[in-house]
Order: sequence, then C-alpha cells, then structure tokens
Amino acid sequence: MVLTEQIRQRIRAEFPKYPDKRAVVLPALHIVHDELRSVSSAALEEIAELLEIHPAEIHDAMSFYQFFREEDRPLGKRRVWVCRSISCALRGGEELLESLSRKWHVGPGGTTADGSVSLEYAECLGACEGAPCILVNDECHTNVTAEEVERIVEQ
Ligand code: FES
Repeated sequence: MVLTEQIRQRIRAEFPKYPDKRAVVLPALHIVHDELRSVSSAALEEIAELLEIHPAEIHDAMSFYQFFREEDRPLGKRRVWVCRSISCALRGGEELLESLSRKWHVGPGGTTADGSVSLEYAECLGACEGAPCILVNDECHTNVTAEEVERIVEQ
C-alpha cells in the first residue's frame, strides 16, 4: 500500500465538499503529490479505488494538467517556479531563471542532485506588480533576486 492512512483520510475529508467522488480527482492528486512528491502508478490505482472510478480517469487528469510528476521524475523537497511571462521577463525573470539554473546545476523541469529543489518555469503568476516573482511550493514571493531565492529556499 502506497497511500498512508493519513493521506487516505485527507482525501476522504474532501468528499463532502464535492457533488460526487469523481470530482475529487484533482484534490486527491494534489494531496498525494504534495505528500509523496510524485504520483506513482500504484498510488494512481489506490486513488482510483478510493474514488471508485477507473484508474484511466486519474491518468487522463494527470496527463492533461502536466503538473503532476510520475515516479520516474519525483519532485525535490521544494518546487521553485520562476515566472517568465512578459512583466517578469522585462524585470529580469529570465536572468533569474538562468542564474538559478547555473547555481543549482539544473535546468527547468529538473531536480538538484541532492533532491532539495525542483526548478520550473511558470507563466504569469498573477502578481505582475511584484515582478520578477516566483512560487516556492505554494508561496508567492515578489521582487526577488537570485540571492533572495536561495535564502527563501534554505528557510
Ligand atoms: Fe510574472 Fe505576471 S508576468 S506574475
């Protein structure tokens, strides 16, 4: 069994918020992804069993969103998204991404060798007034420099 009882309970706690279990696919994927840093095929089967739907439906959602990592490419402890849309690009977003890539020896989509950070590029994060900005896991940080990003990630 891949999903712990705690993960299962978190998924079951979503049920009353939605009209049916099928609607819990995305929340369940987020919970599993956050906890396990990827969604393995075994986890996918177990989610499907909990939601009483076919595993293919979970797989379709995963493929459509491209947000969730499969077991062969798990996330690092922290996921750092660097915005590369226009406002951030004009205020140094691309240089920021390049600088972090050099420092961490990893390209966008990759994870550092020690598993501490996954680096990603993002489209507009909706915080253009604070360009350049990043997301560290779910937290947005604005007007950042590469040095600040390292400090944020270490915290
Ligand atoms: Fe970066 Fe909008 S362009 S947050």
